Amino acid sequence: MSQRKTGIVVLAAGLGTRMKSALPKVMHPVAGRPMIAHLLAGLAELSPDRLVVVIGEEMEAVERAVAPHPTVVQAQRLGTGHAVLAAREVMAGFDGDVLIVYGDTPLLSSATLARMLEARRSAPEPAVVVLGFRPDDPGAYGRLIEGADGGLDAIVEAKDATPEQRAVGLCNSGVMAVDGTRLYGLLDRVGNANAKGEYYLTDIVALARADGLACRIVEGDEAELIGVNSRAELAVAERIVQEQLRARAMAAGATLTDPASVFFCHDTRLGRDVVVGPFVVFGPGVSVADGVEIRGFCHLEGMSVATGALVGPFARLRPGALIGPGAHIGNFVEIKNASVESGAKVNHLTYIGDARVGAGANVGAGTITCNYDGFFKDHTDIGAGAFIGSNTSLVAPVRIGAGAIVGAGSVVARDVPGDALALTRGPLTEKQGWARDFRERRAAERATKAASSPSHKS
Ligand code: UD1
Ligand code: MG
Repeated sequence: MSQRKTGIVVLAAGLGTRMKSALPKVMHPVAGRPMIAHLLAGLAELSPDRLVVVIGEEMEAVERAVAPHPTVVQAQRLGTGHAVLAAREVMAGFDGDVLIVYGDTPLLSSATLARMLEARRSAPEPAVVVLGFRPDDPGAYGRLIEGADGGLDAIVEAKDATPEQRAVGLCNSGVMAVDGTRLYGLLDRVGNANAKGEYYLTDIVALARADGLACRIVEGDEAELIGVNSRAELAVAERIVQEQLRARAMAAGATLTDPASVFFCHDTRLGRDVVVGPFVVFGPGVSVADGVEIRGFCHLEGMSVATGALVGPFARLRPGALIGPGAHIGNFVEIKNASVESGAKVNHLTYIGDARVGAGANVGAGTITCNYDGFFKDHTDIGAGAFIGSNTSLVAPVRIGAGAIVGAGSVVARDVPGDALALTRGPLTEKQGWARDFRERRAAERATKAASSPSHKS
């Protein structure tokens, strides 16, 4: 391939009316990140010389999501052609090839874009290369009208198409590679005499043909070209990405007992010989080392699990949880902003927040770190090898020394030295035979009452 430069214009100014959302369409997440971020990650693989994102007014969230790439604001949304015109100043003097992609086509791969650039740079060096695809349901997509020479003659929007044109199955994905020296000359001549009264980018094809310039089609796969305009299409995009992420995890050496019920984030990292049970959800920022087992029904987010640890079933591991090597986290345990060090066990019905659980410590069932007083969060430190009896409340800030034992049912509100026993427990009273006497007395009372009742039938 030649050394020609690559510029990219990403269109993301549309309101996304069909999403019925307060959030700009391109900010809706797919696999845990906004679709626009998904798209930009693919585009970055092409190392473009220039990239600009066209956004609408009051789309600061999009501006932040695409930073450090520059944005331009298309104040009025007068169509896709009008949107590319908004980027004119940023693209001024650019004489390489310009890829135009739509922000609502998040699954586009860099390999497909590289094929587009190759077609653009090969004979007859077409002025416009359009990425076409054959969706199961062509619906509202623009139709690609092929010329006698096998090239592309025009793109007709579904709303403007004749019944004959609507019957065409080859559709416009929205992606184009255009000769940068001609792009704005063609766009200047685009009008808005069409069903939507918009300036269609797609009209540059017919204009280029009228100038005697060649236009070509490169075909792509529907799975990566789906355009997201509604919540239903967002769900389809999510399913496609999840299938890719599951396949990738298994190819990298993880066992997924029931792949279809495991949900990944774009950045989930799993080591080798990790076993993930059914119904596990990974939020953003999770890293799992080799040999870890995550049993069913766990939710993990912003945290890491070290080698050989065992998690779940039914564990919730929240941001800042660091599960050490060989540690055990059992059922109905929530851990937030806390390290559970090597070999420690937190096995049942427990909340550990803003804390350290030292190596080899054992935290009994129903232990709660009381980390919040309604105003501030405080830290709990459990020393190595300590044993926390069941149903203990650790009122932070508090330190339990290494090797200490806390008796079951205690409320610990001050520091406990290493190897000490700490116990807060009322004295046990015992009354011999009281329970038997109580049962006999109450049973007799019930019998008397039943015998004297008027509703009693013998
Ligand atoms: C567009 C294409 C259609 C193609 C389809 C593929 C045109 C005229 N039609 O239709 O041929 O089959 O995509 O998904 O191009 N946008 C702006 N400013 C505007 C209007 C749109 O930035 O004034 C952006 C949107 O944010 C979106 C993209 O351009 O990311 C496409 O706009 P959209 O309204 O979704 O076009 P479609 O009707 O899907
Ligand atoms: Mg669209």
